[in-house]
Amino acid sequence: MKLTIIDRAGQAIKLENVSAPTLMHAIRDAGLDLTAQCGGCASCATCHVYVDEAWQTKLKPRDENEDVMLDVAPERCHGSRLACQIPLSADLDGLTVTLAPGSSFDEA
Ligand code: FES
Repeated sequence: MKLTIIDRAGQAIKLENVSAPTLMHAIRDAGLDLTAQCGGCASCATCHVYVDEAWQTKLKPRDENEDVMLDVAPERCHGSRLACQIPLSADLDGLTVTLAPGSSFDEA
């Protein structure tokens, strides 16, 4: 599958032939700057991304835990999601997301 990741400089990075269990794993496997400190158990919010408008309804809704974690993430907005809570499946081929502020250790 293909993904497009917009980094914090606004550069679009196209990932092809992605095979990863979640969006967080795909971003990290590509060597992009995503802290994902808790390793994917939805307890750190350092995998915060903004999902493009067109894709938001294609994702399973946030559960209560993800919602609570996003409340502590900097600059939450309508499209905010935890990348570790987005399992990758064929119907998400072409998904586009933007790395959010606070998802990197460099942004203290
Ligand atoms: Fe920690 Fe997603 S990796 S909340």
